[in-house]
Amino acid sequence: MAYDLIVIGSGPGGYFCAIRAAQLGMKVAVVEKDKTFGGTCLNIGCIPSKALLHASHLYDEAGHLFDRMGIKVGNPKLDLPGMMKFKDEGVAGNVKGVAFLFKKNKIDTFQGTGRIAAGGKVEVTSAGRKSETLEAKAIVIATGSDVARLPGIEIDEKRIVSSTGALVLSTVPKRLLVIGAGVIGLELGSVWRRLGSDVVAVEFLDRILPGMDNEVCRQVQRILEKQGMTFRLSTKVTAIDPSSQPLKVKIARSSDGGGAETVEADVVLVAVGRVPYTAALGLETLGVKQDNKGRVLVDQYFATNVAGIYAIGDVIAGPMLAHKAEDEGVAVAEILAGQAGHVNYDVIPNVVYTFPEIASVGKSEEELKQSGIDYRAGKFPFTANGRAKINLETEGMVKILADAGSDRVLGVHIVGADAGNMIAEAAVAMEFGAAAEDIARTCHPHPTLSEAVREAALAVDKRAINM
Ligand code: FAD
Ligand code: NAI
Repeated sequence: MAYDLIVIGSGPGGYFCAIRAAQLGMKVAVVEKDKTFGGTCLNIGCIPSKALLHASHLYDEAGHLFDRMGIKVGNPKLDLPGMMKFKDEGVAGNVKGVAFLFKKNKIDTFQGTGRIAAGGKVEVTSAGRKSETLEAKAIVIATGSDVARLPGIEIDEKRIVSSTGALVLSTVPKRLLVIGAGVIGLELGSVWRRLGSDVVAVEFLDRILPGMDNEVCRQVQRILEKQGMTFRLSTKVTAIDPSSQPLKVKIARSSDGGGAETVEADVVLVAVGRVPYTAALGLETLGVKQDNKGRVLVDQYFATNVAGIYAIGDVIAGPMLAHKAEDEGVAVAEILAGQAGHVNYDVIPNVVYTFPEIASVGKSEEELKQSGIDYRAGKFPFTANGRAKINLETEGMVKILADAGSDRVLGVHIVGADAGNMIAEAAVAMEFGAAAEDIARTCHPHPTLSEAVREAALAVDKRAINM
């Protein structure tokens, strides 16, 4: 069978690409090695983690907040298998949705591992079946990423787990040690802390969430510490004795290896990043170039150095985020159809789904300083927002960074309940090249948390009303 396009991988990058290409009239095939579609995001990433974050947050609120609002439920009891079932049902609904969309868009699907045998040829192999070779004018590699590992520390997904194992623990660990205070460490650390674990996050650097605005991170660290999470910054794990019960984890100062000590944990979560996944694709034989981190090298049209082979999503450079992969999937499909597909990498929002949520888009203060850009900052705390007060959700703030000369919005950072939804307004504003004054002059509904975004925009010009 000859196709216009074969997409290898059905994660957010791959399935968006396939659907957009089909919409544009292409005959499309998708090759997926796993049993279900949706990739990391739907099966073992965004969706299951957000299900557990949502359920554990409500459990936490039922235990601490309901009483203050006059709701007497007594001490909530955790039914962990029930919570896992809720999560699994959410995942199942989402992956079935992708299968439905493939059918609806007349996309052929092949379950098996794809290998690019030659330009325009993909060999699909799956256990117990004869391999078959598909042909296409273009091939898009959307094979995503895998867990980064630490030398000498073997992940067994039972006691020493990656995010995948941390989403399916069958009991609440008394002590959870997280290696890495990045996005996964904070999100899954929050889940298990809410469900009853003592959580310690060991972070190599002297700060949490590297890359995010420093002021925001300091505030978030304080909030999470108040919730009961412990951080060991500038610290590294040097060894874990896997035979010990509980696990004996050796830690030391990250700078010089000094101050060594042993701490005990029932479960260790390794969350030190992710690496591009290109196994079995045959890239070396084809001569497809990769960088020193194993990412597939592409030009601004997502084309590799080999004609007819493209790549998108986690497997190429850039933030490893589902919506970035989705946008690249759409862009490459449009480029293949002769259109001007494009991704604006300056406006990719980033959300950490802790409570409160942390959301940002555009530049941090440190980045602006480093580039020598003169900016003005407007900040507004949720303690001064009416809706946040009545909801008892006053932690956090909105910070807007605007160019000192033109007032153009350069970066927006929000710590607060529902920050992830609110950041979309900032992204739209930035996409349209808005000035802080444009946001400030836009009527926002009352009473909503979004009024804090408007107030921060007003604060850029030192004229916030409620502060
Ligand atoms: P993937 O989703 O990894 O999909 C790649 C697919 O390719 C997989 O299905 C794989 O089986 C398949 N594949 C690989 N090789 C082959 C082959 N040779 N043949 C056939 N199939 C193959 N991002 C967010 O934006 N928001 C979040 O809240 C969020 N939460 C996350 C939580 C966790 C715990 C994790 C681990 C990640 C999270 N991410 C989140 C990141 C997000 O999951 C990724 O950025 C996103 O899935 C990348 O999409 P992708 O299509 O590039 O790759
Ligand atoms: P990360 O890059 O966010 O954080 C890894 C952390 O581990 C960093 O703080 C790093 O300094 C630290 N670290 C690295 N080596 C270490 C060591 N030896 N000892 C101690 N600390 C060490 O990676 P994470 O959390 O694993 O997430 C992987 C990717 O998945 C991220 O890039 C993120 O984009 C994506 N993701 C996105 C989510 C979201 O958008 N809400 C949620 C979860 C994951």
